[in-house]
Amino acid sequence: MRHIAVVGTGYVGLVTGTCLAELGNKVVCIDSDARKVDALEQGRLPFFEPGLLELVLRNQHGGRLSFAREVAEGTRGSEVIFIAVGTPMADDGHADLRHVREVAMQIARSLDSPKVVVNKSTVPVETGDLVASIIREHKTSDYDVHVVSNPEFLREGSAIADFMKPDRIVLGVETPVAEGLMRALYAPLEAPIIVTDVRTAEMIKYTANAFLATKISFINEIAAICEHVGADVKDVVIGAGSDRRIGAAFMNPGLGFGGSCFPKDVMALQCIAEGHGLKPRILDAVLTVNERQIERACTKITEALGNLKDRRVGLLGLAFKPNTDDVRESPAIALAERLIAGGATVAAHDPVAIETARERLGDRVLYMNDYYESANDAEALVIATDWNEYKQVDFSMLRKLMKGRFIFDMRNIYDPSDAEAQGFVYVGVGRPRNGVIDKESATRANLAEEHHS
Ligand SMILES: NC(=O)c1ccc[n+]([C@@H]2O[C@H](COP(=O)([O-])OP(=O)(O)OC[C@H]3O[C@@H](n4cnc5c(N)ncnc54)[C@H](O)[C@@H]3O)[C@@H](O)[C@H]2O)c1
Repeated sequence: MRHIAVVGTGYVGLVTGTCLAELGNKVVCIDSDARKVDALEQGRLPFFEPGLLELVLRNQHGGRLSFAREVAEGTRGSEVIFIAVGTPMADDGHADLRHVREVAMQIARSLDSPKVVVNKSTVPVETGDLVASIIREHKTSDYDVHVVSNPEFLREGSAIADFMKPDRIVLGVETPVAEGLMRALYAPLEAPIIVTDVRTAEMIKYTANAFLATKISFINEIAAICEHVGADVKDVVIGAGSDRRIGAAFMNPGLGFGGSCFPKDVMALQCIAEGHGLKPRILDAVLTVNERQIERACTKITEALGNLKDRRVGLLGLAFKPNTDDVRESPAIALAERLIAGGATVAAHDPVAIETARERLGDRVLYMNDYYESANDAEALVIATDWNEYKQVDFSMLRKLMKGRFIFDMRNIYDPSDAEAQGFVYVGVGRPRNGVIDKESATRANLAEEHHS
């Protein structure tokens, strides 16, 4: 059993701390946001993550997991300190390292024993050096501090399984002491461990996220071409992705990537490259294609409806992806904003992200308890997040509820023929029938609307 402190109890920090407690360690999770710590102490999660509450409660009751508001208090007696605070995008596109710097300073001022300080936040290359130098300059006692980079690859929505069964663990270390301790900590997971230097570990994380984002923008570009040549991108993905050199994972065309990682990490990597006088053309294209996806979706909806003014649109999904309440950089939120700006009335639903979405959108959209309520009287229904529950929709029920006949399936979760069999005009992403809606279908759908009213 080791004494571990984790600073930052967000999606990464709380999962890391809780899973390390589950592995038998004594863990203190620290957050400067008192509301988060209050919630955790009262047995509530500050965000939604499947399976996490049960694990938190079990380890809390087992005396292995506790919470603190101050770094000095929470790190007392610890051998290892994980830094898992946010590294959001600054106005100039760089990663904003203010929280990392602040925590490094607090660690320096409260050193009470030798420590291994592990950077788990996603940070630009050289941040390990920055943390080491802040601690060196500000430490008030002479204990050794070893700084490690241990980037995290978990995905919100499946974070516990991703942490417990990782494809690999990356350790950027500079000393045998740090390597030995980190290997021992992760030994119970029996996962492949890649040991390298700190800068390379930092670069691995950005490379992984930039590549995944590239796959998404690539397939979105292919989907746009499919719409014009009459090919079905779903089959294109299966056909091309079956090649082991390519793979179909992350080849899902849609509204583009969002969330708290890909947009900021691709941008930060671009800034790093430019800072070294390079012109990263692929990264630039990845971001440009991504930005266009919302515009493309909005154009499809506007063209089909004629205009958006006072048109009622049901919007299914607000989270940036299913199984999370995270709406940071959510394409669904961006689309909602565009629809509102065009004058539409948006009736939105999400199984868990209504509260987080409300913080962004306020009362500019209507929030519905049930997705059939979103469809009620809607002239068009837009699938913005591919929650499983939307996949089971009853089209005949939708037909009764909706005023119009358009389904904009921006996550390609339906078979177009199922929707069309019920008289809907189906618009997907990169699907042959209607990426570009023909006039006849549009007229049919708008006629249905007149019949309804
Ligand atoms: N969310 C993901 O899926 C994911 C996956 C891999 C890596 N990451 C990276 O991990 C890092 C954390 O991401 P997240 O999504 O967990 O962030 P988050 O915003 O959910 O949580 C960060 C937490 O740090 C706390 N914090 C900030 N400054 C603090 C301080 N000085 N002392 C104590 N607490 C402080 C905040 O209050 C917040 O609760 C980021 O660098 C992110 O890029 C995130």
